[in-house]
Amino acid sequence: MVDLSITVDGIRFPNPFLLGSGPPGTNGKVIQRSFELGWGGVVCKTISLDNDKVHNTAPRYGKLKSHANSKEVIGFQNIELISDRPFELWLSELAECKAAYPEHVLIASIMEEMNKDRWQEITCRVQDTRVDALELNLSCPHGLPERAMGAAMGQDPEIVSEVTGWVNEVARIPVWAKMTPNITDITQPSLAAVNAGADGLAAINTILCVIGINLDTLRPMPTVEGHSVPGGYSGPAVRPIALRQVMEIARACPNASVSGMGGIECAEDAIQFMLVGAHTVQICTGAMLKGYEMITELKEGLAAFLERHSFASVADIIGQSLPYFTTHADLVERQRAARRAKAGQSGRDEMWSGDIAGETNSLVTE
Ligand SMILES: Cc1cc2nc3c(=O)[nH]c(=O)nc-3n(C[C@H](O)[C@H](O)[C@H](O)COP(=O)(O)O)c2cc1C
Repeated sequence: MVDLSITVDGIRFPNPFLLGSGPPGTNGKVIQRSFELGWGGVVCKTISLDNDKVHNTAPRYGKLKSHANSKEVIGFQNIELISDRPFELWLSELAECKAAYPEHVLIASIMEEMNKDRWQEITCRVQDTRVDALELNLSCPHGLPERAMGAAMGQDPEIVSEVTGWVNEVARIPVWAKMTPNITDITQPSLAAVNAGADGLAAINTILCVIGINLDTLRPMPTVEGHSVPGGYSGPAVRPIALRQVMEIARACPNASVSGMGGIECAEDAIQFMLVGAHTVQICTGAMLKGYEMITELKEGLAAFLERHSFASVADIIGQSLPYFTTHADLVERQRAARRAKAGQSGRDEMWSGDIAGETNSLVTE
């Protein structure tokens, strides 16, 4: 097959497809299995120094289907916290994974409280396991913000800058900062992270949502003892929002690497993230719903795309579509100029006529 490798922040990825932080990378065993199946890398479930503070509920997932009797999941909500497994256990499993699969990329997702010593301790102890990079979870939208962590940090560029700076002081491996979409302008914390020394940015984490209300019980879902809390939305429904935010980050931070995610389910989805500036892509919900074996289609689809457009390498497609984003005023001007040129060609003065067919673009694949 075509060479799908790409080097990002000095790390060689066998292919740009990573399992995103969450259930797919929840322990060493499943991480090793995903390497066997051919994933280019894994970002492990987010870990912290003290798992005693992490209390998950059941149920903690909710699904939005395309219609009542459908099996097709278009949106997914979770109210899952970061890993509730012991830190020491994680350290030994991360070290085992790297020893067994040195060629595969293992990125540790870490999170801590607003405390310099704790962030520096987790950075040093985790990087000693020989993981390839760190992803700072500054973006989990539920549960953790109640403890002033996750998105509560990522929504404040000053805090992003401070935390990234602490980590950067002691990190000997690349650092990615994972951004929250639950913010007006995602480029602000992204720039803060990069200016404080982050090598890369990962986006997006989940979008705060309420998946639905049960019309029999009138209770919000997922329902825990009759109650609920807004959670994180992921899966296909978030993809257009994720694409927009990844594009904005890539334009605002051209010197940082970008790991894009949000609703990727197939190669076609993933390639679009790369075209708007992602160097690697991550898949979390897609792997939960479709299984780890989806990596085969991702790799084959990317190889076919490279061949179809005669791109020599994966790196060549990154950001190819970025130059075509502009302002609305510029679109109007371009259209005016095009119509003038067309009218000139046909030798008549063409008035604008509402062209319904031309007003809609569709990416629907049958
Ligand atoms: C059940 C679940 C648990 C998640 N846990 C984490 C986590 O521990 N740390 C993190 O950074 N992101 C976590 N995420 C967010 C994903 O990594 C990803 O940013 C988001 O879901 C969008 O990508 P997707 O549509 O491919 O899932 C979780 C997502 C889901 C669905």
